[in-house]
Amino acid sequence: MMSASFSTVSYIGAIILFILSLGGLSNPESSRRGNFYGIIGMTLAVLATVFGPRVSTAGLPWIMAAMVVGGSIGLIAARKVKMTQMPELVALMHSLVGMAACLVGFANYIDPVASAGLSSAEKTIHEIEVYIGILIGAITFSGSVIAFGKLSAMIGGKPMLLPGRHWMNLVGLLVVIYFGGVFLHAESVSAGMMALAVMTVIALLFGIHMVMAIGGADMPVVVSMLNSYSGWAAAATGFMLNNDLLIVIGALVGSSGAILSYIMCRAMNRNFIRVIAGGFGTGGGKKSSASGDVQPAGEVVPISAVETAELLREAKNVVIVPGYGMAVAQAQHTVYEITRHLREHGVNVRFGIHPVAGRMPGHMNVLLAEAKVPYDIVMEMEEINEDFPDTDVTLVIGANDIVNPAAQENPDSPIAGMPVLEVWKSKTSIMMKRSMATGYAGVDNPLFYKENNRMLFGDAKKMLEEVFVALKS
Ligand code: TAP
Repeated sequence: MMSASFSTVSYIGAIILFILSLGGLSNPESSRRGNFYGIIGMTLAVLATVFGPRVSTAGLPWIMAAMVVGGSIGLIAARKVKMTQMPELVALMHSLVGMAACLVGFANYIDPVASAGLSSAEKTIHEIEVYIGILIGAITFSGSVIAFGKLSAMIGGKPMLLPGRHWMNLVGLLVVIYFGGVFLHAESVSAGMMALAVMTVIALLFGIHMVMAIGGADMPVVVSMLNSYSGWAAAATGFMLNNDLLIVIGALVGSSGAILSYIMCRAMNRNFIRVIAGGFGTGGGKKSSASGDVQPAGEVVPISAVETAELLREAKNVVIVPGYGMAVAQAQHTVYEITRHLREHGVNVRFGIHPVAGRMPGHMNVLLAEAKVPYDIVMEMEEINEDFPDTDVTLVIGANDIVNPAAQENPDSPIAGMPVLEVWKSKTSIMMKRSMATGYAGVDNPLFYKENNRMLFGDAKKMLEEVFVALKS
């Protein structure tokens, strides 16, 4: 077993490694290193806790057994899950953090050892930690379970807007505060448990209500917000258990999740508070149009793979805009082959990446990095948007919402105000998708009908392979 001081030093080492990990993950080039730091940091943290002074030898077999079960489930999930299902898995993981915070809170309250020897002020602080820890944990748990349901399409994407929902939330908050007072003044553990149970039920209902009220299009923000909550839940657990490492890591996750939510809200031109209040966005969107607004109309001009190859061959500047469909079709490797071929023939090829392209932050960057596309030709939306007028051909591969001009042209559109890649400003845009269906936000796309737009219908991978064959011939 480790001495207390060795365990503390290991904790400090783990904290430094986690900070380095976050720093590394902020850039695609250093992200592998960031992951590596994270793995070492977590290994160190687990070893220092399991073999640290606070775990008795008698408890070790239990911990080991739990680690084997949990580790095996994690391993199987990580191997099986497809890249496009990652947000669902992340939502499910967040729910576990929330559940752990609740369970630790209840156990901590019941356990007489946890509050033994505390002065009355210390006992009050401890009980506040327990109450807040369970509150955040329960909201995180139920909210994440609903987010999982929505992301995996088990629950519809439409926001559920109950009448007077803000008032309901306010009443819930007041009841939680009232029972907080009851809990702190409880004479016995069983009286305190009653207050805790009422608060937990309200927090669970609040979590469900909060996420149900959010529309499909705003789910990315919700997932990152729940990520932030799970961090604060972990920090609260750290306070309950007097574990500095958990407090620091929880705060790191909590604040980085909050920053990410803010960045995503900015990228989608959403007001953070209004997203949380709910009601934005529409359903998951399969067939064309939902929202009752004017449907775009006009003629759609299809194009063949051979014609696409000709346009690409003759172009000087090409921009590729990948989206969710590229991930589904796993077309990134063919995209890279085409890029390499065109670059070898003197065409300036670059990529335009929207911050919420795909289904998770950095989704496209991960896929392009996997296919070995050089980082220096992968541009962010702000960097590339002003270059579209000088672009000969823009190839939109399985993207839809992120290139929808309605965001700028139609103030009634559900995605009005969301910054988009202005691909319609290029000389020719070619949209690769299988049908006329809408994207995630369920909103029609007037780009299909623009005069300079062509539609290359079919599975992205299959069509790109045909384009590549035509390019080489
Ligand atoms: P979407 O707007 O969802 O459009 C993707 C398009 O890909 C669909 O219209 C679909 O059309 C096409 N497609 C699907 N499978 C295909 C295949 N095998 N081959 C070719 N095309 C295929 O995607 P986007 O433009 O990337 O925008 C992302 C959306 O997801 C935004 O609304 C965003 O808010 C939301 N979202 C983002 C995140 C994050 S954090 N990135 C998380 C959750 C949600 P067809 O069916 O006609 O082929």
